[in-house]
Amino acid sequence: MRGFLTDPTAPAGLRLADDLPEPEPAPGEFLLAVHAYALNRDELNLLRRRPDGWRPGQDVAGTVLRAAADGTGPVEGARVLARLDQHGWAERAAVPVHSAALLEPGVSFEQAATLPIAGVTSLRALRHGGLLLGADVLVTGATGGVGQFAVQLATAAGARVTAHVSRPERAATARALGARHVVTRLADAAAHGPYHLVLDGIGGPALADAVRLLAPGATAVLYGNLGGPSQLSVADFYAQGWNARLVGLISADPGVGAGGGPTMADDLATLARLVADGRLTPHTTLTADWTRTPNALTALARGEVRGKAVLTLPPQGHESVLDRAL
Ligand SMILES: NC(=O)c1ccc[n+]([C@@H]2O[C@H](COP(=O)([O-])OP(=O)(O)OC[C@H]3O[C@@H](n4cnc5c(N)ncnc54)[C@H](OP(=O)(O)O)[C@@H]3O)[C@@H](O)[C@H]2O)c1
Repeated sequence: MRGFLTDPTAPAGLRLADDLPEPEPAPGEFLLAVHAYALNRDELNLLRRRPDGWRPGQDVAGTVLRAAADGTGPVEGARVLARLDQHGWAERAAVPVHSAALLEPGVSFEQAATLPIAGVTSLRALRHGGLLLGADVLVTGATGGVGQFAVQLATAAGARVTAHVSRPERAATARALGARHVVTRLADAAAHGPYHLVLDGIGGPALADAVRLLAPGATAVLYGNLGGPSQLSVADFYAQGWNARLVGLISADPGVGAGGGPTMADDLATLARLVADGRLTPHTTLTADWTRTPNALTALARGEVRGKAVLTLPPQGHESVLDRAL
């Protein structure tokens, strides 16, 4: 089987191997023919941190080649999207049933692949704000992978969104996503607040600036630290956000479903349905054949990707793939 693995001597530290072992799904896993996958910024860090020979790949979409042996999950031939921990940048992958959802016919594999990490992060971050109807919401990095979904979902939920972008030329994109106001300096966001909810993937000095914009009892959700470490003082909450709370979001948490809350599969299904209904539109500025994954990673590292980058695999003949996989 063909798939990517880390190799420090290869371009972008990634090599396409053609002799990988076929996946061996556990009883609660199905075998997926991968048709598209998306890149995430944190995967740049993972590629550096993991040992040589590690096989990356978290956001995938494709067709079920063989249903899970325990009888759960999607049937053979079903179109699905899934969030994996690794091994997704390959022709085939073993996918836990609890991390996958069905795709409606109108949703392409390219669209679906953008949703697992970026979409679920934005959805779970917004959930911390509770009812958003008429609420003022501030989203930093609003045209990024997570930010683009956060702006659209908050707007769909009835919030008035202020988008913070890195430079003025991003403003038109942020408005097209649904933002009512767009700022390039957080200080300027004060005119449209205070905020019921702040979503911040930048951290650094931006976090203290954003906390000062919170309404009393409001919520700030921190999910990234692109701007470096943050220094926060209770004085930042004195500004106006008395008794506001700060949530450190780890969106991969599989335990969200415990106690009756939505599971990863629930959230993936919700996002896929919103795309099918035309209420959520993934913005992808780089789509390429999967053999170009190292080039796409280089573009991502250089800051040349807006929204998401998606890699596509040619269709795999169903029968012949099954023959080889079995
Ligand atoms: N906790 C979790 O579960 C979780 C899940 C997903 C992602 N993350 C993290 O969240 C962060 C964002 O992820 P992403 O996929 O959305 O990344 P992304 O696609 O690269 O988007 C980042 C956005 O932030 C903007 N930005 C970056 N640095 C900035 C700065 N110093 N000041 C102002 N704007 C800045 C970028 O603007 P330009 O494009 O104009 O530069 C871009 O719009 C990353 O750190 C990622 O690792 C965490």
